[in-house]
Amino acid sequence: MNAKIVVLPGDGIGPEVTAAAIQVLEAIAEKFGHSFEFDEQLIGGIGIDEAGSSLPDATLAAAKSADAILLGAVGGYKWDDPDATDRPEKGLLKIRKELGLFANLRPVKIHPDLASASPLKAEKLEGVDLLVIRELTGGLYFGESKRWTDADGEEHAYNTMVYSASEIRRIVDLAFKAAQGRRGKLSSIDKANVLDVMRLWRKVVMESAEDYPDVEVEHVLVDAATMHLLNRPASFDVMVAGNMFGDIITDEASMLPGSMGNLPSASLGSDNNRLGHPRGLYEPIHGSAPDIAGQGIANPLGTIMSAAMLLRHSFGLEAEAAAIEAAVDATLSAGHRTGDLAHGDETALNTQQMTEKVLSFL
Ligand code: IPM
Ligand code: MG
Repeated sequence: MNAKIVVLPGDGIGPEVTAAAIQVLEAIAEKFGHSFEFDEQLIGGIGIDEAGSSLPDATLAAAKSADAILLGAVGGYKWDDPDATDRPEKGLLKIRKELGLFANLRPVKIHPDLASASPLKAEKLEGVDLLVIRELTGGLYFGESKRWTDADGEEHAYNTMVYSASEIRRIVDLAFKAAQGRRGKLSSIDKANVLDVMRLWRKVVMESAEDYPDVEVEHVLVDAATMHLLNRPASFDVMVAGNMFGDIITDEASMLPGSMGNLPSASLGSDNNRLGHPRGLYEPIHGSAPDIAGQGIANPLGTIMSAAMLLRHSFGLEAEAAAIEAAVDATLSAGHRTGDLAHGDETALNTQQMTEKVLSFL
């Protein structure tokens, strides 16, 4: 297979972790006889600095013609001014929207040897294997918003959470299908006791459920869901949530395995690439970690696992994806740790050393 991957290293540790994932993708290409072309483009803070925009036109054009996109992270202290007109995060939201990537898949699995790195007791973690499906192009992130100063000089602002039934239905359908391919349980996260928009959400889920009689559905209020993620995480299979709630519960869920450094994500839409698969955007969920940027010590596993998701969802290369996942698994089983995972007297490997361990198991 010949395929083109647009790489958006972005800010903070983004360039370090995408460089690691590229090494792994190159090794896969060699091992399985593929050829991957990497086209590096700007996004986020570095886009603002070097091209005057958090999503330069050239980046968007390249992304639209790519077979898949691999992203590092965006954001950093330098661009944190609350009054700035452009922000690194704006570029990320815009590329999601422009590419129609409405579904964000965030799987959370626990490597048994890492259970001690989790803030939860090991017995709570047994059997944890969940997939959060977060709506990514609507809701509070994209509703009408405004900031203004009134005649007395006081500042005001609002955002609105808005969903159409069809926007809800397409993400919920995808979640039901995912549940069918897993353990057959769907937990829909809402706030139907308070918000109109969430009553519509629940109604659509109940209607869609009729098409999937083999899936067990539960409706969980978002506040209760954050609690259940801590007291019964193994009871979740697929969780589906709107944009804002999904953002929050995935950070919480990411702590179950001890570090968010290992966790990948895929953002998919309904547009296919040249290969007949969804043109997705793949990124670790950890963010730019400006506190450790440039030191070469970031955990590359979340991005490497994102590269595996890329091969599976955008290229249809299941064996190659599974090979990466098995290599990461073996790396952890062999006791190799980056700083975020090491504790006690465990040695902390740097990004390149950890990447080489993964390559050695491929
Ligand atoms: C995420 C991040 C982003 C989001 C930020 C960086 C805009 O937190 O992907 O979860 O809120 O969606
Ligand atoms: Mg987030």
